[in-house]
Amino acid sequence: MTIFRHAFAIAAAIVGIALPFAAMAQTPIIIKFSHVVAPDTPKGKGANKFKELAEKYTDGRVKVEVYPNSQLYKDKEEVEALQLGAVQMLAPSMAKFGPLGAKEFEAFDLPFIFPDKESLRRVTEGPVGKQLLQKLESKGILGLAFWDNGFKIMSANKPLITPDDMLGLKMRIQSSKVLEAQMKTLGAVPQVMAFAEVYQALQTGVVDGTENPPSNMYTQKMHEVQKYATLTNHGYLGYALIVNKKFWDDLPADIRPKLEKAVAEATEYANEISQKENDDSLEAMKKAGKTEFHVQTEKERQAWVEALKPVRKEMEARIGKDLLQSIYKATGAATN
Ligand code: LMR
Repeated sequence: MTIFRHAFAIAAAIVGIALPFAAMAQTPIIIKFSHVVAPDTPKGKGANKFKELAEKYTDGRVKVEVYPNSQLYKDKEEVEALQLGAVQMLAPSMAKFGPLGAKEFEAFDLPFIFPDKESLRRVTEGPVGKQLLQKLESKGILGLAFWDNGFKIMSANKPLITPDDMLGLKMRIQSSKVLEAQMKTLGAVPQVMAFAEVYQALQTGVVDGTENPPSNMYTQKMHEVQKYATLTNHGYLGYALIVNKKFWDDLPADIRPKLEKAVAEATEYANEISQKENDDSLEAMKKAGKTEFHVQTEKERQAWVEALKPVRKEMEARIGKDLLQSIYKATGAATN
């Protein structure tokens, strides 16, 4: 009897110890990836690609839950949620890093700073990109990669042909001082607003217009409430893929490289599809016929370039002269 009881106690102890281990082995590591755009956008598709690859490469030991369309958090809250560890991964636009104390990212918002995607790539893939991502570490955030969206177009309910057409318009912007300066320089009235609120604000006339790449404009149905848009391509919108640093550092050593591989491949994918996504969205909006799209003449374009020139000088102190010089050097763009 005693032997029996003894054996039972030992067996129970073994099960007691083994069970939590078994449970642990089976419980996947969850990565909550929150974002504010539609799934059918460069960022939305990039996030879904990361999910697919991360789960495949880790044989399901990592599960990625993607929450699109501000389902969990809006612009500002999502960054706070990441720092608190409520979500593990985000890809906010570079215009949204200012409130985090990383205002250097607003360099990407400067009007006409990147002549094309190649020059942009020299910045994001070079030492400047690395240096920018490193700035996030002191905020408990690890920067993993840069993801493209595209160049922005300007929309409103009146034609925007000359820069003066912007005078007095209430324009929704992201929370970037550079974008604020840009709109003010054009004589418009900037209004910071979360992405999730833009459609309704345009519909009800809380704001008159906005700026966004075609993919965002189309997937948020902004073209249904904007009569005119000009293909100004005056500024760039892209993302930094970021994770909670402690979460990433604490990952099992065999898992991290697999996720890094998934990040690298999802980045390549997102950057590869971004141009086509925007081209297709523009075509779809043209077909929908609700917005009239204006293609600028070279002379019209030059007028916008000239009108927006003062923004660089004005923002030099905020972004940092040295950083700006490094960007100019990498892009090969004019420095004034
Ligand atoms: C915006 O707020 O306009 C964009 O940053 C949304 C996004 O994430 O592309």
